[in-house]
Amino acid sequence: MSPIVELRNMEKSFGAVQVLKGVSFTVEKGEVVAIIGQSGSGKSTALRCMDRLETVTGGELFVCGHALHDPKVDLHALRKDVGIVFQSYNLFPHLTVEQNVTMAPRLVQKMSTDAAREVARAVIAKVGLSDKLDAYPEQLSGGQQQRVAIARSLALRPKLMLFDEVTSALDPKLTGEVLRVIEGLAKEGMTMILVTHEMQFARDVADRVIYMRDGIVHEMGGPEILTNPGTPELAEFLAHGY
Ligand SMILES: Nc1ncnc2c1ncn2[C@@H]1O[C@H](COP(=O)(O)OP(=O)(O)OP(=O)(O)O)[C@@H](O)[C@H]1O
Ligand SMILES: [Mg+2]
Repeated sequence: MSPIVELRNMEKSFGAVQVLKGVSFTVEKGEVVAIIGQSGSGKSTALRCMDRLETVTGGELFVCGHALHDPKVDLHALRKDVGIVFQSYNLFPHLTVEQNVTMAPRLVQKMSTDAAREVARAVIAKVGLSDKLDAYPEQLSGGQQQRVAIARSLALRPKLMLFDEVTSALDPKLTGEVLRVIEGLAKEGMTMILVTHEMQFARDVADRVIYMRDGIVHEMGGPEILTNPGTPELAEFLAHGY
């Protein structure tokens, strides 16, 4: 079976500035991969390329069977397969929790209102917010809003979920409830790539850890590399966070 994600010497430049300098790795179905690394090392850029929010400028990138380096890629089909959640949740403030979540299935998948509502209720239950269906975002905590954002992505039944530092705007108490949702998805076998600063979480949940540095994969391995790094640079990063 082919991998869900495959990067082959992927490059990304913004103008004259090369941010990704030949990144290669694969992610198999059901795998949870954590990407860690210094600020500016290219973690978000790599993730954004995987949802085609950025266009790669070199190498190859396959995601759920879509060749994203190909200008003719079917973005509509890609967006059905891939969910992405960011640090800022960007919910629609004038819509309830349920309405925020039904939006994508109705618009992207042309689901009927009833069918979309059924899917929405199931994914909202999964993130533990069944009692908040009719609440508006401003009535929710940051952690709850982030869980709605996750539910909104899940409503499209993606094959791959991408998370970019989804807890870094939250205080520690709220961080835990969001991480538990992600942990639940991992247990269900969801394929996920998460950029994270939560080393303990990466250790617990990730099947594989990728340490990015200056636009390349500097070190990659099982979660044990977080305890026994193979390079002095990763050791330094783990010790000091930079
Ligand atoms: N749209 C853009 N235009 C120009 N440069 C960009 C753009 N997006 C990112 N960059 C640059 O690419 C580099 C990598 O940024 P990226 O956001 O991928 O880093 P990161 O590893 O996610 O960092 P952080 O941990 O701070 O989120 C940075 O130097 C950034 O300034
Ligand atoms: Mg980032």
